[in-house]
Amino acid sequence: MTEKYESLDELFEDEEFEISEESEDNVPLEVKSRLALALDVDDLIDARRLAGSLFDFFGTVKVGLELYTAAGPDSVGVFTEAGFDVFCDLKLHDIPTTVHKAARVVGSVGARWVTAHAAGGEEMLKAAVDGLREGAESVGLPTPGVLGVTVLTSDTIKNEDTIVSRCETALKAGCEGIICAAPDLKATSSFSEKLMRVVPGLRLAGGDSHDQARVATPMEAISGGADMLVIGRMVTEAENPIEASEELVSELLG
Ligand code: C5P
Repeated sequence: MTEKYESLDELFEDEEFEISEESEDNVPLEVKSRLALALDVDDLIDARRLAGSLFDFFGTVKVGLELYTAAGPDSVGVFTEAGFDVFCDLKLHDIPTTVHKAARVVGSVGARWVTAHAAGGEEMLKAAVDGLREGAESVGLPTPGVLGVTVLTSDTIKNEDTIVSRCETALKAGCEGIICAAPDLKATSSFSEKLMRVVPGLRLAGGDSHDQARVATPMEAISGGADMLVIGRMVTEAENPIEASEELVSELLG
């Protein structure tokens, strides 16, 4: 929480961050529900301002390690209160007992999805699934789904067999989905009915690829079978994020 606010209530009451309940409805729900905005900032006020300005386009916000570390569980609550689904990208990876305990805490804060590394194995992923369920049940909230991270772009191992075996592990452990790069959608297509596939690393044609090695366009990802797209700098670092979001939606609508 920045010094300007002493409580979350004060933040909610600030008109600067008010989110219109009457969204313009110009983005069809089937598009909006597939778009997750990556809030890769370390300040809750900046994150809230960014999400509020793009509420019409994104049904989900992704709270990553940076924002969660800066603001803690409030970084989930602020956005669920505002009407977003929250995808908490903590990439859990530790011994099963530790993951279970951490997942129990995250399960109680209202996230819709939480990420864990599939490389951590079946027992660890199960610990995440169980911990989230216990945490959510303890406060009467719906249980968040686990999304298994298949391989990081920075991983040296990225052969198809590894990706497929991590999908199998995620499925056996009870994960709701996986995170994979667009070029890996083909290798993971046999899981499309059982696991939702969430794809980051997207850029509009001709856009800056920043530090991403394997970029694809949003339309390529959707055509390849992605269920949800994670949109980051393509929009957040655009000169005009609203115009960039409009461009993104019109590409998807064709
Ligand atoms: O590069 P961009 O700003 O679009 O990244 C958006 C989000 O997707 C970031 O939070 C980043 O951590 C995540 N990402 C990822 N795996 C990739 C590329 C990006 O998890 N291969």
